Amino acid sequence: MNPKLINSIEEMSTIRRQLKGKIGFIPTMGFLHEGHLSLVSAAEKQSDIVIVSIFVNPTQFNVNEDLSNYPRNIERDIELLSNMKVNYIFFPTDEQMYPEGFKTWVNVDKITQVLCGISRPTHFRGVTTIVAKLMNIIDPDLMFMGEKDFQQLVVLKQMVKDLNFRTKIVGCSIVREEDGLALSSRNKYLTNEGRKKALCLNKSLLLAQKLFSEDIRSSNKIISQMTILIEDNEGIIDYIEVIDQESLEHISELKSGCRIALAIIVENTRLIDNIKII
Ligand code: PAF
Repeated sequence: MNPKLINSIEEMSTIRRQLKGKIGFIPTMGFLHEGHLSLVSAAEKQSDIVIVSIFVNPTQFNVNEDLSNYPRNIERDIELLSNMKVNYIFFPTDEQMYPEGFKTWVNVDKITQVLCGISRPTHFRGVTTIVAKLMNIIDPDLMFMGEKDFQQLVVLKQMVKDLNFRTKIVGCSIVREEDGLALSSRNKYLTNEGRKKALCLNKSLLLAQKLFSEDIRSSNKIISQMTILIEDNEGIIDYIEVIDQESLEHISELKSGCRIALAIIVENTRLIDNIKII
């Protein structure tokens, strides 16, 4: 299928007003991988029309993060999406999304100030603002998002609820390489050596699940075992947190259905992952 390429907000809005049927939307920053494509597959199954946006959103990068180095390959992205049932690819420019004089921000309180929000203080404000803008332009029935960015998913669900967007957010499972590494555009920054070290993220999460199955419940005990495994692999821990899935609040005793989320720096690349404890 050849998706229609749209790079103007006006054209996208005009086309959207003429569309009938259930619209499934996948917001992305491009450099697509199987994780994104699994969201597209979910959208294909549950919607009549599929729209993918590609926009590297400058406002979700912190000052110390290198926006200009963020991996991009729009030609390859278009090719990958052309092999799927995608009807429209929307790829606006920075100038259109943030014209001179832009002053309005969407900010979700509290749950953006924990976990990734501590080391990336303005990140979620950028995410909620751009997603709110995209949702206003595309007005999707369903929006598909990966669980790898678990905090992002919870924050966006809160925004949708609080601001009465009609869109339903569909959370989709994490896609992993065969060896367990969660797919991420940032994996590209890793050397072969670093990629091996990065397996400590998933391994430590699986260790937590194993310890839970052996009736260990203390978050502190489990986190200290995970810490040893990660540090043995030269990972630098930004955070490891046992959290409630909805409030994102820290919990001290693991229980079935809670989540463990972590952010680890491997070779200067910050990687995140999480697991639902069952
Ligand atoms: O998850 C991402 O790729 C981005 O944060 C998103 C949701 C596309 C907003 O820029």
